[in-house]
Amino acid sequence: MSLDWEHQYQICETPWDKGAPAPPLLEWLESNPRTIRGTILVPGCGAGYDVEALAEKSSAELAVGLDISNSAIELARKNSTSEKKATYDQGDIFNLKANHVGAYDWVWEHTCFCAISPDRREDYVEAVWTALKPSGLLLGVFYLNPYDDEHQPGGGPPHGVSRKELESFFIKSGMFRKEEEYTPKKSYPGREKRERVLCMRRMS
Ligand SMILES: C[S@@+](CC[C@H](N)C(=O)[O-])C[C@H]1O[C@@H](n2cnc3c(N)ncnc32)[C@H](O)[C@@H]1O
Repeated sequence: MSLDWEHQYQICETPWDKGAPAPPLLEWLESNPRTIRGTILVPGCGAGYDVEALAEKSSAELAVGLDISNSAIELARKNSTSEKKATYDQGDIFNLKANHVGAYDWVWEHTCFCAISPDRREDYVEAVWTALKPSGLLLGVFYLNPYDDEHQPGGGPPHGVSRKELESFFIKSGMFRKEEEYTPKKSYPGREKRERVLCMRRMS
């Protein structure tokens, strides 16, 4: 089942919006100060909390939020406090505009991969590969098990992913090489031990 993301933002039904950056991102930034440099793309940025955190707390020159929903992008622009270091663009990760192709040193993934239909995961891997410069890095927190009373496998997003599937989509496909993997110590309440952080380098 796919979701009409624009409609969800228009009716303010955005339960994924926690009003703050992803704790695993803040944890990574604390442990790896000044590691993120150059340009970084955040696909499915929503209201832009992670983009703002990257603009403020990393050494990136530019953090770019991309979202398919125009209302999400408007919200992110309204919320933004990092004028020159954060920008936002409405667009589809599966149909990248020319200015996003090969443009990024880093991609930060958080709740975009779990939001798209599972049958588009290979397309997602190709899209982030395409957005990165050669040898660029994909840093992501992947939702392994989002299933609870509200969400069930086969229902709508978020869609879980196993560690084996992550390995298969990103690494065994030959698209990326793994640099780092761990379970984050910090998570939003309810996501503890259900997420996995991976840092992967684009293979050319
Ligand atoms: C679950 S929300 C997460 C938003 C944000 N990362 C957060 O955690 O608050 C998924 C986001 O991905 C966006 N999205 C879904 N499909 C997309 C696509 N094909 N290209 C770009 N953005 C997409 C949605 O509009 C939505 O904002």
